[in-house]
Amino acid sequence: MALVHFSSQVEYKNKLPSKSDLLKLTGFKTPVLLYDSVLNKHEFFNTWLKRYEFTIKLKAGEGLKSFSSAEAELCKISKLLPPVSRKNICFVAIGGGSTGDFAGFLASIYKRGVGLIHIPSTWLAALDSAHGGKSALNLTGHKNQVGTFYPAKKVFIVKSLLQTQPKALAQSAMGEFSKYCLLNKKLFEAVSKSSLSGEKQLWKFLPQAIDIKYKVVLKDPYELKGLREVLNLGHTVGHVIESYYRCPHGEAVMQGLMVALEVSNREGVLSQKSYKNIVDFMSSKFNLTFMGKSKMPAAEFLKIIKTDKKVTSKTRVNFVLLKSPGQVLVKPVSFKSILAAAQKTKWVKK
Ligand SMILES: NC(=O)c1ccc[n+]([C@@H]2O[C@H](COP(=O)([O-])OP(=O)(O)OC[C@H]3O[C@@H](n4cnc5c(N)ncnc54)[C@H](O)[C@@H]3O)[C@@H](O)[C@H]2O)c1
Repeated sequence: MALVHFSSQVEYKNKLPSKSDLLKLTGFKTPVLLYDSVLNKHEFFNTWLKRYEFTIKLKAGEGLKSFSSAEAELCKISKLLPPVSRKNICFVAIGGGSTGDFAGFLASIYKRGVGLIHIPSTWLAALDSAHGGKSALNLTGHKNQVGTFYPAKKVFIVKSLLQTQPKALAQSAMGEFSKYCLLNKKLFEAVSKSSLSGEKQLWKFLPQAIDIKYKVVLKDPYELKGLREVLNLGHTVGHVIESYYRCPHGEAVMQGLMVALEVSNREGVLSQKSYKNIVDFMSSKFNLTFMGKSKMPAAEFLKIIKTDKKVTSKTRVNFVLLKSPGQVLVKPVSFKSILAAAQKTKWVKK
């Protein structure tokens, strides 16, 4: 299947799409719905689900993204489906990023590939993981070690579904959202001028943020040219924090972005004036409080960062630096410099 990534694949809806809409807009006749069981709490969701013949309930989370779950669910699907042409089948992933990564992987291998539709139920999935065509399973305790590039035919972004999330999940998406603001001058300026916050802010600016991701992905769909690296802004340190504190991804990315700004300034890439301007933007628009209780020892910080996939030598890692909103520079930066920047925060010991 050719990899085509366009933001026109995304449909924005207030309510879940009717069955006829879903079939008409995607062209598939046999949808298999793979959904996060947490959504069964909502009556409107259960009523909608009843209209479909083939449904698979999943327990979302990192545990789902394993070969054993993949085999178990594929066996269920095989037993469930009558003989039907592969071309008519599509898997519909309804849930957060773990459901999407898992169902995307299954869609890419079942009968050598069936259709895929995403209906994200977390802001993080709506903003990020449902787009860009990456599916993933975890292996030997490490995240996303197995996967395929397999874009969805359609992504339905449904406001009423996203609104079912508790506030903490919306907060967790702010890390990725603020990253898109720093990656694009227009979005940075629009958010600067807007008085909206929280879910209202996310809903209003979602199409712009998603568009930014599609533009980057379109240039390098298979991640062969290094052009998708810019999407890693804030993620090198974000992954250290996520791994040490076991905190939500978005919270870690938010802290990682603040360290990336500090590193960019120290490396002489971001001027003092722009640094101050961007730090003011971040603190006035987003909640930067970090919940991590204990301080991370410097040795632990270095141990984790040295396992990063982007390490280029014994002393350096390829790091995404910000020059100004919308302008980034990727270059190897020393672990020492990143540690010094992180030590300016409250969560790494001096
Ligand atoms: N493929 C990609 O490009 C990509 C990009 C970023 C992240 N990811 C992956 O996405 C995952 C993180 O995304 P996530 O936070 O959405 O993960 P998730 O699917 O684990 O959801 C987080 C929690 O929220 C619950 N949940 C989902 N929808 C809900 C709702 N409407 N109301 C209440 N609770 C709800 C889930 O049951 C789960 O407990 C990670 O596995 C990460 O690796 C993938």
